[in-house]
Amino acid sequence: MANISIIALLCFTICVSSSLNYSYGAAEENMMYMVVGHVYCDTCRVEFETKLSEPISGAVVKLECRNRTNEAITFQSQELVTDNHGDYHVIVEGDYEESDCDVALVRSPRADCSDPTEAWRKSRVVLTTFDGLSGKLRFANNLGFKKDKALPQCTRILQEMGYYELSPEAGYFTPSSKL
Ligand SMILES: *[C@@H]1O[C@H](CO)[C@@H](O)[C@H](O)[C@H]1NC(C)=O
Ligand SMILES: *[C@@H]1O[C@H](CO)[C@@H](O)[C@H](O)[C@H]1NC(C)=O
Repeated sequence: MANISIIALLCFTICVSSSLNYSYGAAEENMMYMVVGHVYCDTCRVEFETKLSEPISGAVVKLECRNRTNEAITFQSQELVTDNHGDYHVIVEGDYEESDCDVALVRSPRADCSDPTEAWRKSRVVLTTFDGLSGKLRFANNLGFKKDKALPQCTRILQEMGYYELSPEAGYFTPSSKL
């Protein structure tokens, strides 16, 4: 995340300074946001990130904003592809106070990890300053695809994390079973 953030910030600074006409000041039409995020493979099939989660490069996501009142699309990004670190970024012009904006998983390049997690198939991003959030850089929650089979090391890692109830004996977590 560190690398991409720096590159992203740099690009953002360049893009903003080259395209904003400062004589207009910070008018609402001139608002620009940079949304950054990350896509991972949930190798333990637990719907949250663990240290065994892997970044997915070449994963595709999309940012879409819809008018909260009538659901009309107010912004739609192109398909965004993650880099080698599983990170993506997109620049959005305008202010979306009246819209709900979400980054959603589109597809995974990994055949063994292409099942979107229920919890993290989508992430809400706020693209307005009217609700008190300042700053142009907005972080989307990490989004995950689930691996087809959990890695064998998951049991130990989850126990370390305190998920004792997810032991194979309890039947909730069976790394070797097929799904
Ligand atoms: C910036 O705004 C000024 C004042 O309205 C205008 O004259 C100028 O052409 C604008 N420059 C660009 C690059 O849009
Ligand atoms: C959202 O929809 C409402 C109801 O149709 C409309 O009045 C409003 O102008 C729309 N807002 C935007 C930003 O499109």
